[in-house]
Amino acid sequence: MKVIVTENYQQSCDVAAKIIQQTIQAKADAKLGLATGGTPVPIYEALIAMNKNGEVDFSQVRTVNLDEYCGLGPDHPQSYRYFMNDKLFNHVNINKENTYVVSGLGDPNANAEELERMVFEGGTPDLQLLGIGTNGHVGFNEAGDFVQAKSHMENLVPSTIEANARFFETRDEVPTQAISMGMKGILAAKKILLVASGPSKQDAIRGIVANDNITPQNPATFLKLHPDVTIVIDRELADLAGYQA
Ligand code: GLP
Repeated sequence: MKVIVTENYQQSCDVAAKIIQQTIQAKADAKLGLATGGTPVPIYEALIAMNKNGEVDFSQVRTVNLDEYCGLGPDHPQSYRYFMNDKLFNHVNINKENTYVVSGLGDPNANAEELERMVFEGGTPDLQLLGIGTNGHVGFNEAGDFVQAKSHMENLVPSTIEANARFFETRDEVPTQAISMGMKGILAAKKILLVASGPSKQDAIRGIVANDNITPQNPATFLKLHPDVTIVIDRELADLAGYQA
């Protein structure tokens, strides 16, 4: 596992955008596994700027997203399909037909099966971008007694619902279930890039960088099983998480 420590969050996002750019430069039709949440927003902004400057070409890029809230359709402003269009796809020269965000509407089991197919069909992602939840969840693979291998419907735990509430007007609107790529799909990516910032992520990051243990109580620790993981954190978080280079 490679840990890159930067001066600040913006620098972390610039480093991550550069790694994504390099992935696309090496393979024009790269398949990217993409993430939502607050963390990747400046990464997508940097990629949009690079695309406008001709530094990265999305015309052949394919994408598959990690997760989607159950009950929210693509036009709901808090759905992850809406987020991806709004924060990235609408602003770069990507063919939207080559982008996939699992549906949050309809039969969740059928949707999960479709997501699983989309992760593996035509080769697994060349790069999987990840944020991390305060409890170490990746995608929406929640912390608990076990993690699931295949894509599935996940019941969100109270701390995750609480963290997501900031994006909704009332607490009642916050979805309590989501479809998530499973750990097998995440770990099947050729390269994994995790970006984290802020004191609330310190326990989750400590579990990854400060020891060699793997536990479903911190699902991100399963990334230790992958041969090519890069974690980008700023100095403040590195210090809080007890990371020593
Ligand atoms: C949600 C997403 C995750 C994301 C996490 C952290 O739960 N499903 O993919 O990593 O939030 O979000 P943030 O980056 O806003 O802290």
